Amino acid sequence: MKMRILPLEPGKIIAIGGAKGGVGKSIFAANLGTFLARKGKKVILLDLDLGGANLHLYMGVWALKHRINDFLDKKVAGLEEIAVQTPHGPLLIGGGSSRLGAPNLPFVRKLKLIRAVKKLAADHVIIDLGGDTSFNILDFYLAADTGLVMTTCDPASYLDAYTFIKMGLYRRLARLFGPESGWHKLKDDTVKGIIEDFLNQPGGTNGHGIGKLLKQVDLETPSKAYLVKNAVESYRPLLLVNMAQDSSETKNLIIRLQKVANKMLAVDVDFAGALPPDSKVAQSAHDLVPDVVGNPNGVLAGFLNRMCRKLL
Ligand SMILES: Nc1ncnc2c1ncn2[C@@H]1O[C@H](COP(=O)(O)OP(=O)(O)OP(=O)(O)O)[C@@H](O)[C@H]1O
Ligand SMILES: [Mg+2]
Repeated sequence: MKMRILPLEPGKIIAIGGAKGGVGKSIFAANLGTFLARKGKKVILLDLDLGGANLHLYMGVWALKHRINDFLDKKVAGLEEIAVQTPHGPLLIGGGSSRLGAPNLPFVRKLKLIRAVKKLAADHVIIDLGGDTSFNILDFYLAADTGLVMTTCDPASYLDAYTFIKMGLYRRLARLFGPESGWHKLKDDTVKGIIEDFLNQPGGTNGHGIGKLLKQVDLETPSKAYLVKNAVESYRPLLLVNMAQDSSETKNLIIRLQKVANKMLAVDVDFAGALPPDSKVAQSAHDLVPDVVGNPNGVLAGFLNRMCRKLL
């Protein structure tokens, strides 16, 4: 049996995660949101960066009256209440997500937030996830219709990006039958047990690829193996290379990452595109005005135009 869980509204929730530390995730989120808003779309930006929520600054908003914590702490009833209008089009729900970083955040609370995000009245909800790979952040990545993974060509950065992709897959498998999953109703205890044993081996997965898990589930419960196979096959991270200086270096990086992900994780990594370093983007980050506002025909706006036509 072949089954694929397709997003109900493709491209509605766009999450941006990936490498830590200054690869351009927040700048990209701010510009993508502004670009889409200027095309007449209703856009809500959501800052879930646990390390340093600064998306509001990149959108020209200095002080936040409310933050996402207010929703998690039940100070407000709905997410719409804490969305503020930014000067450049999108609405913004500001970060300050220490509660999402808290391991003791009740699961139902997170589920409620995921459901509230899905229900937001918007054409696009763009989430800046930061570079964290905690379960709470990965759960938002997995809930998105489009999941971007951002990196630069620096080895430390693309190793981070690979780790993000891997952790996302492990989390997807660990939560295969969770209430937030499209496979929830198909819960199978044997499959669940095999996945748990694979993920919780002493010493990690011991360098064994996901291929081993697929074989095992095929051997032990062949009629249910499609569940795991489909979960892996439909996990399609979208790689985005930022500040790419050299096209052959970028090409090599993409090929290498795609090969390793395929071999070790049985995952196909799609390529969303590569952006060159652009002094105007750096300047706009400094000026706290999204680049696409001052440079509607600039490099970044052109890139976003092509990317959105391809993906959304
Ligand atoms: N395409 C680009 N060209 C030139 N500079 C860029 C580009 N994209 C991002 N930058 C620079 O990188 C800096 C960091 O960007 P940003 O804050 O978006 O990174 P981040 O990935 O969100 O970092 P963090 O993980 O700390 O949240 C910006 O201040 C900007 O100067
Ligand atoms: Mg950031």
